[in-house]
Amino acid sequence: MNNYNDYVKHSKKITDINMSMAVLGWDQETKMPKNGSRFRAQQLSTLAEISHELSTNKDYGNLLNNLNSDDSLNSDQRRNVSLSLKAFNKSKKYKSEFIIEESKLVSNAFQKWRLAKEKNDFSIFESSLTKLVDLRIKECEILGYDNHPYDALLNQYEPGLTTNEVDDIFSNVKEFLVPFIKRISKSNKIDDSFFHQKYSHNKQWDFGIELLKKMEYNFDSGRQDLSAHPFSTHFSPEDTRVTTRIDENNLSEMIWSCIHEGGHALYEQGILSENYGLPLGETISLGIHESQSRLWENNVGRSLEFWKYNYESLKSVFPNQLSDVTVDDFYKAANNVKPSLIRTNADELTYHLHVLIRYEIEKALIEGKIMVKDLPEIWNLKYQEYLGVEVPTDALGVLQDIHWSHGSFGYFPTYTIGSFYAAQFFNQAKIENPNLLKEIEDGNNKNLLNWLRKNIHNNGKRLDADKLCEKISGEKLNFKYFKEYVIEKYSKIYSL
Ligand code: CO
Repeated sequence: MNNYNDYVKHSKKITDINMSMAVLGWDQETKMPKNGSRFRAQQLSTLAEISHELSTNKDYGNLLNNLNSDDSLNSDQRRNVSLSLKAFNKSKKYKSEFIIEESKLVSNAFQKWRLAKEKNDFSIFESSLTKLVDLRIKECEILGYDNHPYDALLNQYEPGLTTNEVDDIFSNVKEFLVPFIKRISKSNKIDDSFFHQKYSHNKQWDFGIELLKKMEYNFDSGRQDLSAHPFSTHFSPEDTRVTTRIDENNLSEMIWSCIHEGGHALYEQGILSENYGLPLGETISLGIHESQSRLWENNVGRSLEFWKYNYESLKSVFPNQLSDVTVDDFYKAANNVKPSLIRTNADELTYHLHVLIRYEIEKALIEGKIMVKDLPEIWNLKYQEYLGVEVPTDALGVLQDIHWSHGSFGYFPTYTIGSFYAAQFFNQAKIENPNLLKEIEDGNNKNLLNWLRKNIHNNGKRLDADKLCEKISGEKLNFKYFKEYVIEKYSKIYSL
């Protein structure tokens, strides 16, 4: 290995292995028979080992270091090399004992969490989670950080994001959103009961596919399947996958999970194939990824304009269930704000209070200020304080999310950041195309997608998230765009 082409070849090899793991992972969640799990775990772990070996290969590291000071490379090539070198240096920080311990703890914690949730007994999960938290505290020291150990964990998902910045973001959430939601709670109630009639599985499925087509999701480079929890994944820009879940007694779940996952997949389809296997052929961060799903789900998919176009076709599929429901009723029900127990079912506003609670708990755990054994009590108090809801059981409370059982700390804030980026990007798209809402009302989402392609998708990792945001909108992430969007939309819906 001694030149840029050798680097490209090696980097593509690593990607090939990682994408093969993604195929197996997708299959595991969608098609694999029950008995497949034992050897599937072994196959995935073998590939993970190969990927780690390739990523930490000594010759590869030497080549990256050499190329990093090679002035003959153009700016895109230099960007690829510098990001690959960063990833290499990070992989090298982990001793294999750490990786082995982590994989054991995670697989154990996941089983304990599942059992604890099923039996509604947090104590089953407590000791595994304590070990995982200790491991992450150790990891912060391995990775290093400038100000706060939690920075190291955040950076796994959102490079460059700091705990200070997240604190700022959530102080805005508290200051604005908490009282705003209280005002809504005291206002008129919205009736969304029509969502909970019987909607046939097959008809929902077909309508979901239609929605994805309306969003310009390319079915020659993607498909949709069913899974227990909706997700999206990709094996290349030319093969992306989304999944959905259909509940015959809840129409809303299918609609907005389809649009959400479709938004993620559009980002992957917009990555340039010529950059496959290189950092410029990868998406920027979880926050930016989530900005794409949220922009489609909320800014577009919960807008009146979108439903002015799409509601008639929905109504023709379910004429009896929706006979008395006007497009206005439908729009309001799609935006019903109601504090609830479960994050994944939360509306666009209370959602961020769910994330805030998890963030405060994670940060305090990493700081060693609270103990895992006290989590159920702390959780319930915070739900009372921020959302005004009583948590009846741990299964519906502290045990609801899968993330901690995977040892994923620092992940949750990216959900909220994604929504705030979405508001800022969508605002800019409207400034640059004053016809945008009219186009959406006419069922034309092409210009919006092209705008996202040009400004975000096609660039891969060319810029960091904060630089990208500045380039697009002229400033860094600013809460005011989300705030303005919320005030304008919900003041009308709730006549505030
Ligand atoms: Co998402």
